[in-house]
Amino acid sequence: MGTLPVRHETEDIEIRLLLEGIVQKYHYDFRGYAMASIKRRLRQARDHFDCRTYSQLQERVLHEPKLFAALLSFLTVQVSELFRDPAYFIAIRELLVPHLRTYPSLKVWVAGCSAGEELMSLAILFREEELEDRTLFYGTDINPQALQRAEAGIYDLDRISLFTENHRLAGGKSSLSNYYTAAYGSAVFDKSLRRRAVFSDHSLVSDQVFAEVQLICCRNVLIYFDRGLQDRAVGLFKESLTRKGFLGLGSKESLRFSAHVDAFDDFVHSERIYQKRG
Ligand SMILES: C[S@@+](CC[C@H](N)C(=O)[O-])C[C@H]1O[C@@H](n2cnc3c(N)ncnc32)[C@H](O)[C@@H]1O
Repeated sequence: MGTLPVRHETEDIEIRLLLEGIVQKYHYDFRGYAMASIKRRLRQARDHFDCRTYSQLQERVLHEPKLFAALLSFLTVQVSELFRDPAYFIAIRELLVPHLRTYPSLKVWVAGCSAGEELMSLAILFREEELEDRTLFYGTDINPQALQRAEAGIYDLDRISLFTENHRLAGGKSSLSNYYTAAYGSAVFDKSLRRRAVFSDHSLVSDQVFAEVQLICCRNVLIYFDRGLQDRAVGLFKESLTRKGFLGLGSKESLRFSAHVDAFDDFVHSERIYQKRG
């Protein structure tokens, strides 16, 4: 007697076909993302686009490239803040900066940079610690709209009180208002903070090693990946870091179950900052 085929719920079959269609037509690969979160987001998208089923959504996605651009914003979570999780930035300021100072030149990669809030925080911190002039920042993401916003450095003014408080809690050495100008409901951050920043499209799912860098911050991105994809991304980080380079993850992420755990030491355990072994 042959083995019985595994039965899948219709919804799961449709989702798999939709993700397969997206990969083939648009080369964005969400097949290795954590299923529960992808399902939640696709459900929102299906309702938003007034589709009864994922098959209907698939038909529209394949025939309407504009709809795919909008769907991308459902599939990629864009939540971020300036100096998000201030204790992480205190750890960088107090424990990493003394090491980083010993390098004549530095490269920092912010992977999954969203609209640039995290990179902007590092640029401000590096200016305050007088490391800015020797540093090049790379911000990468797969969401083109987010990358455009990161390049512009303009944020809603109503987010500024949160950013200001975070900056203060992160040990900010001056007032955040020194770094932006308020205009028409927006806070326009000083262009000079992005003078040493390059933003580009790079996917942790399908692209290759990025550059030789001393610090990688990839926070709140791996939580959306399944284990295999997390291992792929951490493998890229391992290859991209110089000897004794640093990797900072988000508060809900860790290398504990990673295939690459042996390549790193804990550097600041509480803040999920790791150092590549020599
Ligand atoms: C929740 S945001 C994190 C933003 C920022 N790192 C932070 O912690 O505040 C997640 C970001 O990961 C990006 N992302 C999702 N999949 C990605 C991939 N395969 N490669 C690179 N970035 C990805 C999303 O577009 C989004 O901007």
